[in-house]
Amino acid sequence: MARDQWGTRLGFILAAVGSAIGLGNIWRFPYVAASNGGGAFLLPYFIAIITAGIPIMILEFVLGNKYNSSAPMAFAKIKKKWEILGWFQAAVAFFISVYYVAVVAWSISYMVFGATQAWGTDTEGFFFGNYLGLTDSPWIMGGIQWSVFIPFLLVWIVSYFILVKGVKNGIEKANKILMPTLLVLTAIIVVRGLTLPGAVDGLNYLLTPQWDKIFDAKVWVAAYGQIFFSLSIGFAIMITYSSYLPKKTDIVNSAFMTSFANCGFSLFAALGVFSVLGYMAHAQGVAVSEVSTAGVGLAFVVFPQAINAIPALKGLVGTAFFATLVFAGLSSFISIIEAFMAAIMEKFSISRKKALNICMGTAFILSLPFATNAGLYYLDIVDYFVNNLGIVIGGLVEVILIGWFFNLESVREHANRYSDFAIGSWWNFTIKIVTPMLLGYMMIQNIITNLTSPYGGYPWSSVIVIGWGVFVACIVIGVVFYAIKGKESPMLEPSKEVSYNE
Ligand code: ALA
Repeated sequence: MARDQWGTRLGFILAAVGSAIGLGNIWRFPYVAASNGGGAFLLPYFIAIITAGIPIMILEFVLGNKYNSSAPMAFAKIKKKWEILGWFQAAVAFFISVYYVAVVAWSISYMVFGATQAWGTDTEGFFFGNYLGLTDSPWIMGGIQWSVFIPFLLVWIVSYFILVKGVKNGIEKANKILMPTLLVLTAIIVVRGLTLPGAVDGLNYLLTPQWDKIFDAKVWVAAYGQIFFSLSIGFAIMITYSSYLPKKTDIVNSAFMTSFANCGFSLFAALGVFSVLGYMAHAQGVAVSEVSTAGVGLAFVVFPQAINAIPALKGLVGTAFFATLVFAGLSSFISIIEAFMAAIMEKFSISRKKALNICMGTAFILSLPFATNAGLYYLDIVDYFVNNLGIVIGGLVEVILIGWFFNLESVREHANRYSDFAIGSWWNFTIKIVTPMLLGYMMIQNIITNLTSPYGGYPWSSVIVIGWGVFVACIVIGVVFYAIKGKESPMLEPSKEVSYNE
């Protein structure tokens, strides 16, 4: 059986960009940037792209392309025991998928609410009360919240039908529709936002450099953390996606294009988000810092408020904003599933359909708690632990193993082989020294913080069971799947030798 392959290099880049651009760009980046030094954040952010984002993207593209395998099998081909790392990363992707789907589902509901501003004037009460029916504690689960469950089911079904069609006819085709539409929708928000009075206050808040923050280690940690989640590196996705490339591919150029497209989009979306927030602050006569908030609150509470305040085209902006979350989220969601599904498909040498049934069936069942009345609590805790420990540790171990216990030079040679411009030895330096040092520091900080105070003020019991529990589960999955004897997969080589370095 021939291994699936992208139709064109553009198709691959669109899919990689589709994976990278996700919820993280729209609701996370603007706030992280604004609260970590505004314009001054852009410096650590760009340094993080150059010293970690792009180098690791190149590394993961080489691993996928060279070994033609998903993460666990690619690592196993280097050293059998390293397969554990691949499964750990695939498990991280698995746990991201089970909560990510919920946010895409909320966005679908809000896309509909946006047309008529069905959220009313009390957007906070509407979101937490009417829509989520949130309970008082993670230990009070309530029941399935049907208003969440219905769009939730829709996301699972649509993703299944995209993924079952395979790499070229499913993922690539979907991204060819999702990505251009996303750009148009975002442009609508940016244009409407920039033409509102007070927009400039929002932009000033976003972009005015607070240089003193540059010396704050937390700002650097925030920049590196944002880059990992946003570029989809460190959790099996980019290795899997690049395994569907033919050997003759311009790796270096593809990695730069994917990274810059993702980060450029973050900045573009932030212009729209912050000009709308600037308008709202202007209308209420308060400072922008008072109306900007993080994550869930920004997208589902503050933004609806801002839309209520807009003088014209409310319905259009409301629907367009949540549609961007749906489109960006969906293209990332399918890449997250592909990352662990492909691993199961290869390890056990089963068909895509069978692997999808097993993987999506299991993930669907495990995602059900996120559609209950306590779903938001689980989402918040799992998201935090998976991002701050799972992805960072997966990425850290990856750069240490490849940088120090493998022939790093051979990876650079592979990257340069068909690339228009070659990467120099600076690349080795970032993988071997810069990234391990920074990530190591981040990881120690994170572990200390999380052992000394419970995340988000939740009860210790819930943080231990749900947060640390998921992290430990990733390690256990890593070891168990490594220990299970698989079946030699015949789908190792690409079907035809075409060239994508044109
Ligand atoms: N890279 C994806 C995002 O930013 C997962 O949402």
